[in-house]
Amino acid sequence: MKKIGIMTTGGDCSGLNTVIQRIYRGAALRGWRTVGILDGTDGLCSTPPRVIEFNNETLPIECARMAGSFLHNGRPQALNFETAAQTGRLQHFNRQLRKSLNELKLDALILIGGNGSLSLAWCNRDIYSGLQLICIPKTIDMDIPLTDKTIGFNTAVQQLTSFCDQLMLTARSHHRWFVVQTMGRDCGQLALNAGIAIGASAILIPEIKFDVHKLIDHILHAPRDYGIILVSEGISLRGHSGRPADMISRKLTAAGIPNRTAYPEHTQRVGDTTAADRILAARFADCALNAIANNETYVMTAVHDCECKTVSLEEFFSAGYVTADPNIPDLQTSDAYVSPDDPLLDIATNMGIYLGETK
Ligand code: F6P
Repeated sequence: MKKIGIMTTGGDCSGLNTVIQRIYRGAALRGWRTVGILDGTDGLCSTPPRVIEFNNETLPIECARMAGSFLHNGRPQALNFETAAQTGRLQHFNRQLRKSLNELKLDALILIGGNGSLSLAWCNRDIYSGLQLICIPKTIDMDIPLTDKTIGFNTAVQQLTSFCDQLMLTARSHHRWFVVQTMGRDCGQLALNAGIAIGASAILIPEIKFDVHKLIDHILHAPRDYGIILVSEGISLRGHSGRPADMISRKLTAAGIPNRTAYPEHTQRVGDTTAADRILAARFADCALNAIANNETYVMTAVHDCECKTVSLEEFFSAGYVTADPNIPDLQTSDAYVSPDDPLLDIATNMGIYLGETK
């Protein structure tokens, strides 16, 4: 009988519980045991490692749609790669991880994480040499190379869309504009997708330079005197500091455009998991279990052209834009951004949405 470990790391998002529950269910049907590692690497490094054994009662099906991670993602100041590197305890941390994995006697570990966790796993792959390492990509940022979908993104787009839909009503009543700042780090996918869904008047994303005068001109000549300008948290405005939405709002105010700012913040990471994210969770869970059965290791589940398959972590790492991690010395992460060929860019422009200087 195989023993499978599941661990969630990095920021939470909707869909984590669905994928955990589906992994447990699929593993149980194959006659495999499942343990959940609590608090990510912090729980794994504890002595003894903090784990729970799954059974049919552990994560009931009706709770699997809820946001957050039933296993937790880690406590503030917890021992993880980042805090270990910053405090010179990286070797101790790596030794401890290896010791704990040996102690747990896992045949396979399913790591549900974002591009930081996946990059870390690949760069420190020796730690996992005694077992099969299977990764499942999750993030609301959609910044993971080689997969067209990540757990949590669809729900985040829905959450942001619902938030903006409400604001649109009050915007209309008061003949004014809302500058809404989205999450997404340096990737504009979340803002771009939600912006098209709500019919934003402008979408500013880190991948595209914009001209604030042209933005103002666009708003002044808009067919309405209200609407929404979506601003991704990763944009910057030369010579200005502070939160991007505040910077844009000040410029609009100076141009006589009535406006308010709004920050949906972590509401983008919660909300009932959408059907699309639940289906993706089931596909990824099944793909991960098949990968274990096929003796694969160092792979990530991915969707490409509608097909769900595994890709090697090595390919994942070399396919993205490898950048130095600002928080972890000597660590690089592999990132994906909105491509200049993304069809949504043309669609947005053709719908009269200001995207910046795309040509
Ligand atoms: O990576 C997911 C994400 O939600 C980003 O979009 C955002 O910048 C960041 O995490 C927020 O992190 P925290 O939960 O630490 O505030």
